[in-house]
Amino acid sequence: MTTIKVALLGFGTVGSSVYQTIQTRQSKFERLIGRKVEIVGVLIQDETKQRDIADGILVTSSFEELINICEIDVIIEAINGIEPGAGYLQSALERGIHVVTANKELLAHEGKTLRRTADKGHAQLKYEAAVAGGVPIIGTLQQLLQVNNISNVEAVLNGTSNYILTEIAENKVSFQEALNAAQKLGYAEADPRNDVDGWDAFYKLMILSDLLLGNQPDWTKVTRRGIRNITLADIQAVETAGWRIKHIASLQVNEGKAQLRVEPMAVSEGHPLYDVAGVDNAVSIEGDLAGNIKLHGPGAGALPTASAILEDFVQLYKESDNRQTISETAFSKEDFNRLQDWL
Ligand code: HSE
Repeated sequence: MTTIKVALLGFGTVGSSVYQTIQTRQSKFERLIGRKVEIVGVLIQDETKQRDIADGILVTSSFEELINICEIDVIIEAINGIEPGAGYLQSALERGIHVVTANKELLAHEGKTLRRTADKGHAQLKYEAAVAGGVPIIGTLQQLLQVNNISNVEAVLNGTSNYILTEIAENKVSFQEALNAAQKLGYAEADPRNDVDGWDAFYKLMILSDLLLGNQPDWTKVTRRGIRNITLADIQAVETAGWRIKHIASLQVNEGKAQLRVEPMAVSEGHPLYDVAGVDNAVSIEGDLAGNIKLHGPGAGALPTASAILEDFVQLYKESDNRQTISETAFSKEDFNRLQDWL
């Protein structure tokens, strides 16, 4: 049985969960993709910190060392910010190494360039985990887009904001107390301003824009508002009317024109995002053939994110296996002629 060699960039909450899952689900991967999966290297920031990483795996703070010493088939990236990650991924894709990433900020800024490099290097760039955590929104949209025109997407894309709004409403805690709890639970970004000022949801929306529209709008023309100024009084005021405040990212296409927004909105019962509570994310999609489709589930956290990353990872090999199977089992000319006669 051949082996897929994986390098992890980052060993924080998400990176270490991916590591644990790969180590403990070997037999599942072998069954699914018919190969062993071996973690050959881990890129970390601080070499002096103690980590539970098996002997024989290269643990280094030097990307150059990692990429030059290890033979790598796939890089799984779970670090924050645009650089140095973008440079690492660029260099990996140039070498034909597949990349699976959860980094929305990096993709929103550099996705186009990375996709071009991936195409040139005959590598794949997968990013299910970058939008809506464990909710399979990217795969679902890719499926729907094959035959649907999608005119409207409304989504709760930032788990931390949704958690804070829910905590304030249900437990009457302050904004700061709710944010502290979200940080403790590992939902918030290293810099929580990305969450509460709407940047995180904005980056995710730009990734959806790339996917749905093939490009991104001028960022300065997109409304982006966070939840920092929402108070318990605001929440209670809308509640008396039977409404709730949700932080919503939306993409609407009307007569060929796209409008994208990220902002807190009051929604009434019956709205597809009204029931989204806690750290959950949800996406409501309007396809012209499929109708309204709603996905709902954990939008942040180590395990849901690791799940999305590893679904992408498995998909990489299932996709290439499928291609192989199709070409290996393609009809010969004689088979095809026989089939024609029979038809
Ligand atoms: N900070 C992000 C959130 C993590 O709260 O949604 C998942 O992208």
